[in-house]
Amino acid sequence: MSDPTYADAPQSPAAAGEAVAIAVEGLNKTFPTRRGVPDVVAAEDVGFTVPYGRTLGIVGESGSGKSTVARCILGLTPVDSGRIEVLGRSIVDAPARALRSWRSEMQIVFQEPYESLDPRYHVWEAVAEPLLLHTDQRGMDLARRVHELLEQVALSPDLAGRYPHELSGGQQQRVNIARALATSPRVLVLDEPTASLDVSVQEGVLRLLLRLQRELNLTYVLISHDLKAIRAVCERVAVMYLGRLVEIGPTEEVLSNPKHPYTEFLIGAELSVDPDVAPAASVVRGEVSSTERPGGCVFTTRCPLVTSTCHEAQPPLLEVTHDHAAACILVE
Ligand SMILES: Nc1ncnc2c1ncn2[C@@H]1O[C@H](COP(=O)(O)OP(=O)(O)OP(=O)(O)O)[C@@H](O)[C@H]1O
Ligand SMILES: [Mg+2]
Repeated sequence: MSDPTYADAPQSPAAAGEAVAIAVEGLNKTFPTRRGVPDVVAAEDVGFTVPYGRTLGIVGESGSGKSTVARCILGLTPVDSGRIEVLGRSIVDAPARALRSWRSEMQIVFQEPYESLDPRYHVWEAVAEPLLLHTDQRGMDLARRVHELLEQVALSPDLAGRYPHELSGGQQQRVNIARALATSPRVLVLDEPTASLDVSVQEGVLRLLLRLQRELNLTYVLISHDLKAIRAVCERVAVMYLGRLVEIGPTEEVLSNPKHPYTEFLIGAELSVDPDVAPAASVVRGEVSSTERPGGCVFTTRCPLVTSTCHEAQPPLLEVTHDHAAACILVE
């Protein structure tokens, strides 16, 4: 990896001049299935970059490979091939011991706040645990740091003695975020962090994530089904379908001027659940099926605009503007 900024990576036009915190290139990951059934292609030739202090959103229906990419970035899932650099370190060939020691700088927050917590630990213990594991802070130092972390995620110290089941979903997720922040990471991967929370609570958690990013200069990858959350938090968004990145670019541009029919479909699907908006004339058919992966473009089985050319080969990401690209022949 001679060019640390990846400015010339064809799949991931990065904003010029910005130092890159996360660089993924040509990432492939398949999972074996029952004998006789083709392997699941969870990620195929995925590439993007995230500059320091910025947020890339990843959207796509269930099974499109978002969590797989997230786990590969952190070295939690081994890749089949490809290059991943986080904070200047190559993840794919790193020994397990190195990965463990780097983990304090790159953390993940999952969708299920309750399941991520140990029911036997109250809030104080849950937040102290990563400090006991990864730092030598003890006694008063430890107490001060736990207090500071609770303050950072806006959790009252009164809750310190509560167990996970005595907390609301939003409070549980704040504990998870405090745990993730404990070792002062520089990269946070957020895998649907608000998906299981009440709508009224989601906004507060997103605002918290934005404030933390500003205060701590964090780099985020935010995975979400929710385009509202993506709009609120992410400068750039990547759209995945059946393991492929089908569109990537500045969030506002991608969502207001989508170039891939699948992105258009996702935006239409979001509008169609809004009672104030007339149903979108979406003609995308059917559902995503990881076992029926077509030849040619992955979206051919559902695309309303499919032509015979689309069956011939998967189009690469084609440049729309210098930092917006879509994997559809219609771009040309
Ligand atoms: N450990 C695994 N073993 C086998 N198959 C897996 C494994 N992890 C993921 N897959 C498969 O890989 C594909 C992508 O899964 P992934 O969890 O990355 O999707 P996702 O976009 O995060 O979906 P969701 O929105 O439901 O979380 C799916 O078909 C899934 O069944
Ligand atoms: Mg997932």
